[in-house]
Amino acid sequence: MLSLGFCEGERKVGGDSMNALVVYYSRFGNTRRVAEAIADSMESRGAVRVMSTDELTPSDLKGSNLVVMGSPTHRMRLPEAVQSLLKALPKETLRGKSFAAFDTSYRLSALLASFTAARKLARALRRVGGRQVVPGETFLVVEREGPLYDGEIERAMAWAESVWRETSES
Ligand SMILES: Cc1cc2nc3c(=O)[nH]c(=O)nc-3n(C[C@H](O)[C@H](O)[C@H](O)COP(=O)(O)O)c2cc1C
Repeated sequence: MLSLGFCEGERKVGGDSMNALVVYYSRFGNTRRVAEAIADSMESRGAVRVMSTDELTPSDLKGSNLVVMGSPTHRMRLPEAVQSLLKALPKETLRGKSFAAFDTSYRLSALLASFTAARKLARALRRVGGRQVVPGETFLVVEREGPLYDGEIERAMAWAESVWRETSES
């Protein structure tokens, strides 16, 4: 899914058009589904691209003023592939940009929020200068390979609306 056109309802951030990038890592497809739902929800409001961490290049980040990043929680932390990507980001990568972070996890991890990937993603993205616009969010899977619980896609779309709203109003 790649959409770069601007449409009605396009929002501006500090005089610039909103240009969102949704980046995800996914082993079994659940985090990808959530990422795509977030992008679908934002698409009616402005320019949104969605891509996996494998496809991401530094210029993708440079061209976006809102970065939404998602990852599954693995062993109460980030998967190694995501940790390596974050470690490789230059110090000021997200300076002047807004971001939001989400993860997919079991219910128990969501209750113990300090063990979710979203929490760890947010910490890493703040470290490279990003401004977090809403608290990290967890979307729940029933088992390791999914599926997502009923209603989680709808919840992701509603969360995406709040991310967009908070970014465009700031
Ligand atoms: C190696 C491994 C470790 C995991 N550890 C956790 C964990 O600590 N907490 C948790 O909530 N879920 C854990 N899970 C479940 C993942 O959160 C689940 O597989 C993921 O949400 C599915 O997303 P995906 O389909 O995008 O890969 C683990 C899964 C794997 C494969």
